[in-house]
Amino acid sequence: MNTKADIPLLGRAVRHEWLLDADFVSVNHGSFGATPRAVLAAQQAWQHRMEAQPGRFFRSTLPEALRHAAERLAAFVGADGKDLAFVENATVGCNAVLRSLPFAAGDEIVVLTHGYGAVRNAVRYVAERAGGRMTEAAVPFPRPDTEAIVASVATALTPRTKLAVIDHITSGSALVLPLERIIAACHDAGVPVLVDGAHGPGQVTLDLRKLDADWYVGNCHKWLCAAKGSGFLWAAPERQAGLHPVTISHGFGGGFLAEFDWTGTRDCSAWLSVDAAIDFHARLGGAALRDRNMALAAEATALLARRLTSEQGATGDSAGAMGLVRLPLTGAATAARSEDVRARLLAAGTDAPTHVIDDALWLRLSAHAYNEIADYERLGEIVARVVREA
Ligand SMILES: Cc1ncc(COP(=O)(O)O)c(C=O)c1O
Repeated sequence: MNTKADIPLLGRAVRHEWLLDADFVSVNHGSFGATPRAVLAAQQAWQHRMEAQPGRFFRSTLPEALRHAAERLAAFVGADGKDLAFVENATVGCNAVLRSLPFAAGDEIVVLTHGYGAVRNAVRYVAERAGGRMTEAAVPFPRPDTEAIVASVATALTPRTKLAVIDHITSGSALVLPLERIIAACHDAGVPVLVDGAHGPGQVTLDLRKLDADWYVGNCHKWLCAAKGSGFLWAAPERQAGLHPVTISHGFGGGFLAEFDWTGTRDCSAWLSVDAAIDFHARLGGAALRDRNMALAAEATALLARRLTSEQGATGDSAGAMGLVRLPLTGAATAARSEDVRARLLAAGTDAPTHVIDDALWLRLSAHAYNEIADYERLGEIVARVVREA
């Protein structure tokens, strides 16, 4: 456990570690992450090794380095390296699982109403091409309690349900879901669970062995600050047979790792940067950094809600390092309105995604190591002006 003395000074004091524009109010870590200079340097060092002797690199250096990076990441997420393969991103990882499963006519796949759009599309694609359908579990909003969420998923399961796809932390609504309880409810009904953990690694502490999911897909380029294109797919040992990458290549039939570790020539330096990203995360505090980011997000969300005289989203166990505030706009909350507000925020020097949820427009903020409360005071001024003018 970290003590206060272990936690380095954060916020403005560490912002130089990133390439972030000094005069831009960067409060949207959740969308694409931000990669620190040290991690980019590690990635570039791998690229130099690749280009110095491509033949040697791909034949002998890469296979070993990839497994080393996978072992390191597995230790970070509470898993075994042999059960974890790199993929480009969470979308690719979810597609690999969805496209490997043998769905049939009449089958149902449950997703959340707050599920990520790209993943919901992939679910619809595999369900409908088999003659099945995607069904939905409604996420209570804006401040759901654990029992209500678990009950909603349990109610959506039917004898035809073959899979549940559950977000660990929802995208637009920024809810940290009670995964262990949801997974247990699905397993009680005989339904396996694919967790879309795009926002998990580096935002919350993970222990995949304990979680008992069937598959967990995560991104390292978001909260762990690895280079872009560093996602992973973890599969329980009994779920690895028949699991294939979206691209079939030389490893076909050779088992989970053989199939995923080689899908053709590609730049794997983002995955190899994960080692440096874990070092960087640890240097800034590790678990203490994650706690601090969550505390900062809570403080920032409350500040913004007060500044806008509005309501905020989830608090407590349902909140992570992202927070939600309802924008006090008059008139209909439409997708076009949301786009307009987002464009105005960008033009005014900040970026925070806005989403229409249950007929209201909500703004999501993120808190990472380089943020401090002054960022959200500036955000509050900008948002208040945009709301007045929009
Ligand atoms: C819940 C969730 N799933 C999946 C994704 C997709 O991540 P990627 O674009 O890295 O595949 C996101 C991105 O924000 C997300 O929030």
